[in-house]
Amino acid sequence: MNQLIKTDYIAASGKFAAQVCALLNDAFPDGAPNELGGYYLLHGVPTTTMLLREGRRAVGHLAMYERRIKLADETVEVGLLGEIAIAADRRGAGLARGLVRHAHDHLQGRSIPFSILFAYEPHVYMSSGYKVMQNETRFLDADGQWKTFVYRGSMYAELLGRPWPNQPIDLCGPVV
Ligand SMILES: CC(C)(COP(=O)(O)OP(=O)(O)OC[C@H]1O[C@@H](n2cnc3c(N)ncnc32)[C@H](O)[C@@H]1OP(=O)(O)O)[C@@H](O)C(=O)NCCC(=O)NCCS
Repeated sequence: MNQLIKTDYIAASGKFAAQVCALLNDAFPDGAPNELGGYYLLHGVPTTTMLLREGRRAVGHLAMYERRIKLADETVEVGLLGEIAIAADRRGAGLARGLVRHAHDHLQGRSIPFSILFAYEPHVYMSSGYKVMQNETRFLDADGQWKTFVYRGSMYAELLGRPWPNQPIDLCGPVV
């Protein structure tokens, strides 16, 4: 039986840190860091983390970053979802979809109108309400440079019925 743990972030000294790092490294092997802190250095410390446990084992992970971004001339609070990973032997059973649903419940409870993610495989998120974004997007790239273009794989979901505008956006930070 799965248990969902909702926490802010996973401390390096915490009992799940090594397991979560292994889960993420298996899902994202390119340039995988040795410690969970390496992910936090890359993307920042999450506002909220959803961890899915099966007994003592961590089988799923999703990090959420609440951030104020610029949408045309307006500043809007959004949720950025990242580091979504399911253990290889538990994939295809709806666990990622379930984690995203919990993330949306959390964001809706905080009156946050939009969720954004950057997908390797956009199809995974379509049934959760995500659409591919066409907005020109300014963001801080890993090389420290601010860049602007339509970011491949960027997707949005409308959480409170407010329509997502096709206007330039500024992420005011990195993608996650
Ligand atoms: C991608 C990943 C998180 C999906 O987790 P999962 O628990 O297997 O996904 P679910 O079972 O909840 O499936 C959700 C939807 O995605 C689809 N899907 C799952 N894996 C897919 C894949 N590799 N390619 C295309 N579609 C996929 C499912 O068919 C399902 O579609 P539906 O809701 O329309 O029926 C998991 O495969 C993983 O950890 N992969 C490695 C890391 C990664 O790529 N993370 C995502 C970054 S975008």
